[in-house]
Amino acid sequence: MLEIDILTIFPDMLASVLGESILKRAQAAGLVAIRCPNLRDWAEGVHRTTDDRPYGGGPGMVMKPEPVYRAVRALRRENSRVILMTPQGATFTQAAAQRLARERHLIFVCGHYEGFDERIRALADEELSIGDYILTNGVLSSAVVTDAVVRLLPGALGDAESAADESFSDGGLEYPQWTRPEVFEGMAVPEILLSGDHGAIAKWRKEQARARTAARRPDLPMLGKNA
Ligand SMILES: C[S@@+](CC[C@H](N)C(=O)[O-])C[C@H]1O[C@@H](n2cnc3c(N)ncnc32)[C@H](O)[C@@H]1O
Repeated sequence: MLEIDILTIFPDMLASVLGESILKRAQAAGLVAIRCPNLRDWAEGVHRTTDDRPYGGGPGMVMKPEPVYRAVRALRRENSRVILMTPQGATFTQAAAQRLARERHLIFVCGHYEGFDERIRALADEELSIGDYILTNGVLSSAVVTDAVVRLLPGALGDAESAADESFSDGGLEYPQWTRPEVFEGMAVPEILLSGDHGAIAKWRKEQARARTAARRPDLPMLGKNA
């Protein structure tokens, strides 16, 4: 079972994300245990302060190192991977999700305010960003990574095939899909999909995936079965 600790001062922000859909089912099935320890439990003083003003001046507050160090040291085990969520980290990808899905214990350290005291970086095994934009805190970015990782755990998705064919699983984008009705507002489902010829459909889908990737995301490599 994969264990995930999302260390934050806003653990309540995660309740609805973790309590619905695949994340809920995966926890109920014992595939993953997700906890949201409150960083303030490791903070000191009446106010349990986790931030302070930046040295050198400037706007905003910076996360203090002491509570984060205490928390991570309390949560960390031999097989833990500590991940600092930061827009300055490596960009999160499906390949990273596949890699993290093979870990035993993930600890996400969520930043808030203006970010971390630089010494907090020394605690991390890696730093991840979910894209080139700034969120208010690391809870949402940790939730994004958690969702992408948990749905890859064996048994998390209803249909074992569904994670394999998706965009990025093979490098490129997925082929286009249709469902009923056969014709909707003059737009018809491609005839080949109604042919019942599974070999021809698989070949057509491969071509579609390749063409779509070339048109929309020429930067992506085509790997595996769509290459
Ligand atoms: C307002 S941001 C701080 C940004 C920081 N001042 C900077 O310029 O790098 C607060 C926290 O939100 C989280 N965060 C914001 N954008 C993120 C992103 N693109 N990916 C991952 N985490 C992000 C991080 O945990 C970050 O420490």
